[in-house]
Amino acid sequence: MGQRLTGAYYRPTNDVKQADLVLINTCSIRDKAEQKVYSLLGRLKKLKERKPSLIITVAGCVAQQEGKKLPKRMPQVDIVLGTQNIYHLPELISRKVESGEPQIAIDLLPSFEIPAYSPPSPVADDCKHPGHREFRKFVTIMQGCNNFCTYCVVPYTRGREVSRPVQDILAEIKDLADQGITEITLLGQNVNSYGQSLKNGDEKSAFPALLYAVAEIEGIKRLRFTTSHPKDFSEELMQCFAAIDKLCPHFHLPVQSGSNHILRKMNRKYTIETYLAKVGALQRICPGIAITTDIIVGFPGETDEDFEATMQLLEKMRFRGAYSFKYSDRPLAKSTSYDDKVPEQVKSARLARLQARQDEINLAHNREYIGSCVEVMVEGRSKNTDGQWSGRTTTNNIVHFPASDMKPGQLVTVKILEGLLHSLRGKIV
Ligand code: 5AD
Ligand code: SF4
Repeated sequence: MGQRLTGAYYRPTNDVKQADLVLINTCSIRDKAEQKVYSLLGRLKKLKERKPSLIITVAGCVAQQEGKKLPKRMPQVDIVLGTQNIYHLPELISRKVESGEPQIAIDLLPSFEIPAYSPPSPVADDCKHPGHREFRKFVTIMQGCNNFCTYCVVPYTRGREVSRPVQDILAEIKDLADQGITEITLLGQNVNSYGQSLKNGDEKSAFPALLYAVAEIEGIKRLRFTTSHPKDFSEELMQCFAAIDKLCPHFHLPVQSGSNHILRKMNRKYTIETYLAKVGALQRICPGIAITTDIIVGFPGETDEDFEATMQLLEKMRFRGAYSFKYSDRPLAKSTSYDDKVPEQVKSARLARLQARQDEINLAHNREYIGSCVEVMVEGRSKNTDGQWSGRTTTNNIVHFPASDMKPGQLVTVKILEGLLHSLRGKIV
């Protein structure tokens, strides 16, 4: 969207009061994310009262989900830009300016064309964040999802799964590498099924093949990807962690629940036993790989025993991090109509217990680093601490260390002296 806007003579600003256009990109995966959009729109309303020409655009999944209802509920919204309409942003702005009417573009097309990659127009130097050099980028390789987990809104807001052609992805990454980007994260709702919509006869190995091809690109030092679905996490993909040096030993594999009864109700299409077996195989191929996960507590019908099964899974897996959430109803998701909802207080108590235990596990993992030397990719100066810089290990741990002048994207070796809950501290060796 930024590329389209710079192509239409807009330039980014760091000061919202200077803006002629505000673009809010939104997430509707959980109710909490959606509520944040409404509170931001509430604050922007005052700005628009003072500057009526300000164009407020809401893009992304909340826009897709709410459509016409959005400008009715929030009249300060001028443009509602659905998830598959982002390339039309400049036309919609012109139409809004000419007609004065709110513009809504939310068609979901069964197979939409992603325009071929073309390098973005350069951004003026005075609009870049001062002292902030980018070295890491996310690159979208596919959109949408065909899995229909019963709690999930994604298949409705992002539509069916569509993969981006390999040549396009490689062209974008080569371009980023030329601009000095050193770390790439390939992004898709379910990267394991990358390539299935391309129908070139090679669907099963399309994602591993893409990883090998990206790793060939000169200048890229680290490669990551997210997210994988346990049901189609293949042996071939596991092997990539052994075969591709640039592929970081960090793997995010959302489990959602430790109970087979709940996994079935969630339509996840795997059991805890197959999840553990696949993770075990991966750990044999890549010892020390950091595995992180997502967990939902309080899915409709989750009993105390189901929740205990999730707590036991934490002990078995000793995840290197778990993003955990209270179940929330989402529009159109199947589970929204289930009548065995878990009371709010029960969900809160379960989440607190799970997060407290996972914190202990995270801290124990971080303390295990003490005394070891790790490769860190420098990110920038640490916030609020003088003379400290920070970066990340290949396993995605944040490391703080004293240094005078560093270049973001540079690799350094750091000896770890302290392991805290959310970070490591050490010194460059
Ligand atoms: N309620 C709570 N958490 C959810 N997630 C997805 N949908 C819901 C929902 N309705 C979580 C899942 C997913 C992560 C991105 O968000 O754990 O992996
Ligand atoms: Fe949602 Fe399931 Fe698709 Fe993930 S795999 S985006 S949880 S439907």
